[in-house]
Order: sequence, then structure tokens, then C-alpha cells
Amino acid sequence: MNANPPLGPAGRWRGVIEEYQDFLPVTDKTPRVTLLEGNTPLIPSRSIGPSLPGRIQLYFKYEGVNPTGSFKDRGMTMAVAKAQEEGAQMTMCASTGNTSAAAAAYSAAAGMTAIVLIPDGYVALGKLAQALSHGARVIQVAGNFDDCLHLVREITDNYPVTLVNSLNPYRMEGQKTAAFEVCETLGWAPDFHALPVGNAGNITAYWWGYCEYYEQGLVASRPRMLGFQAAGAAPMVHGKPVENPETVATAIRIGNPARWQDAAQAVEESDGLVQIVTDDEILAAYSELAGTEGIFVEPASGAGVAGVKKLAVQGFFGDDPVTVVCTLTGHGLKDPDRAVALTAEPDKAPADLQTIVQMLGL
Ligand code: F0G
Repeated sequence: MNANPPLGPAGRWRGVIEEYQDFLPVTDKTPRVTLLEGNTPLIPSRSIGPSLPGRIQLYFKYEGVNPTGSFKDRGMTMAVAKAQEEGAQMTMCASTGNTSAAAAAYSAAAGMTAIVLIPDGYVALGKLAQALSHGARVIQVAGNFDDCLHLVREITDNYPVTLVNSLNPYRMEGQKTAAFEVCETLGWAPDFHALPVGNAGNITAYWWGYCEYYEQGLVASRPRMLGFQAAGAAPMVHGKPVENPETVATAIRIGNPARWQDAAQAVEESDGLVQIVTDDEILAAYSELAGTEGIFVEPASGAGVAGVKKLAVQGFFGDDPVTVVCTLTGHGLKDPDRAVALTAEPDKAPADLQTIVQMLGL
């Protein structure tokens, strides 16, 4: 039970730990707790990019196709593997949903128990279904993400339970591999990298990944990091915690990010920025991605794209050709309620050929 599976045939993708072991704090003894995460597509934009002013080559790093449907898998394979290596039996996280889904899945794969604290009523249905299905102990807390994280820090400090939020350094190590993949796919580092900011772990991890490849001489430059927060949950933009964060993008409904300082440093070192996008802008980008690119994401993933659109219209990217990568952090199936609420209800018809042909105007 839960033994390390044999590695696949040569040439097949083997998951983040195995593929990037030279860049990760792992040894032969580190269990490969993998669901073969990573190796996600970098999709050239066929509609949004070309429609923007300037000469922007826009790419989407589509992290929604990871095994649990979000970028969290890259960090969780590392965090759970190291927890198991260190003899832990239980993992624990606070989550707006995706971290809990990944923690639950990877803990199940490792034969461990995940405990997850989530803000009651603010976690998308797909994510809740995942955590429950993977057998996590799910506690819905009458509070927001920041309250949950506070409780998780207290508990993991005082009880034999391993914290797997992005405060866990192994999470960051795993997540930085997405930057490696972008460099490998393009053959160089992009000029700009845009992404939504919640707990501020991912923007930090990408920056660390780009820096590492740059310092190793594997790429000749590093991108400017562009972070986007929802208008009602933008502590980094306001420069102070937001007590009651609110946004339709529940994944980034966070008022006091744990990786705030690291992310601020990443933005500063890269000559980047953190800006606000409104819920309307987020949902417009979300719908445009689905409707014109064929890419289904969850609302939070729209934030990076909304931000790039906004900056492009302001002339931020200038007139020279630039490469911009947007991370699409989570799959649209995570939040089916939002998708259905934003679209028209399908027509109904009897099982009758004539009626349907007529309805279609054929
Ligand atoms: N996009 C999605 C889909 C997310 O789930 C998250 C974070 C982010 C963006 C922001 O990334 O926190 O590294 O800045 N979700 C966490 C969770 C908070 O609990 O699933 P971040």
C-alpha cells in the first residue's frame, strides 16, 4: 500500500520531483509522492493577445490541467513527500479550496490524513467535492481564509501535524518549477509574467524559479512580475491588510497574504507591479478565455489576463515586441456554479427531429 510506484518508461513525464530533482531539496530517500503533475501546456493566445494594442506575444500557462486542476499540485507533491520522509502522519492547511483539494489528494496518495480548514460558504463546489472525496477531514470555519490560516499556524506549531500552506518552504520549491517549464518551452524567459495574487506564494515561487535558471545561466534574462489582486481583496495594493476581503474570485479572497513580504520583494527586484482588477474585469476575462480561446478556467485565473488587458490598453507594454505569459491557475470545472450563473440556461426540446431542426433555424 502506498509504496512508490515504479517509474514509467524513459521519455515519459515523471512528475515534478523526478524531473527537477537537481533543482529541488530531494534525495533518493525522498518518497516520490506524485500524481505526475507539471508539464502543463504553454498555449499561444489566438484571440485575446492579437486583439491587444502593441506587439504582445501572449501565452497562457494552463495550470488547470494538473491532476487536481490547479497549480497547487506542483507544491503539494514536494510538501507531502517531505512530510512523509520526515515521518509525519497528518498534513494540515487553510484554504480557499485549491490547496485543500491538492493536500487531500496527495495526502491520500501518501497514505496520510489531510486536515483542511476552509471559510464556510466561500469555497467553490468542485474544490469541496475533491477534499471530501479524497478523505480529508474538512472543517468549515465561520471566518475567512485569514482566520483559517491563523488557526492552522497555531495548531501546526503545537501539535504533530505538518503545515502544507505555502508558508511551507517545500511548497515554494515545487511551485517554482512552473517557471522552469516556461523557460524550457519558450527557449528563453518571457519579458513579463502575469498572475493572480492571493496568499502571494505563487508569484514569489515563479520569481525564485526564474532567478534560479538565470543564476545557473540557463536563461539570459528574467521577466518583470505582474501581480493582480481583486479590488475587494487587494491588501498589497493598499499597503495594509483588508479585514473583510470580498471578490467573486473566491480563490483569492484573502486580506493578509502569508507571503506578502516575499512577493513584494519579487515585484521590486523584477521591476514589476501589483495592481487591482475589478470583479467585472475578472469575469470578462474569464468569459473571454472560455468563449474565444477555448480555455475554461476558474474566476481567479481571469485576474492575470484582465490585468494584462488593462495594462496593454494603457500602453504599458510599449511598441516593441514583448512576450507576456499569464498563468491560468485553476480549471473552470472547479467552480461550476459560477459558470452556470454567468451563462444562459439551455433550451429544452422534445426528442423530435423536426422541432430541433426548426429551433436551430437550419
Ligand atoms: N488562483 C487560484 C485558482 C488559487 O487557488 C490561488 C490560491 C491563487 C490563484 C493565488 O495564488 O495564493 O499563491 O497567491 N489559492 C489558495 C488556496 C489560497 O487555498 O487554494 P497565491
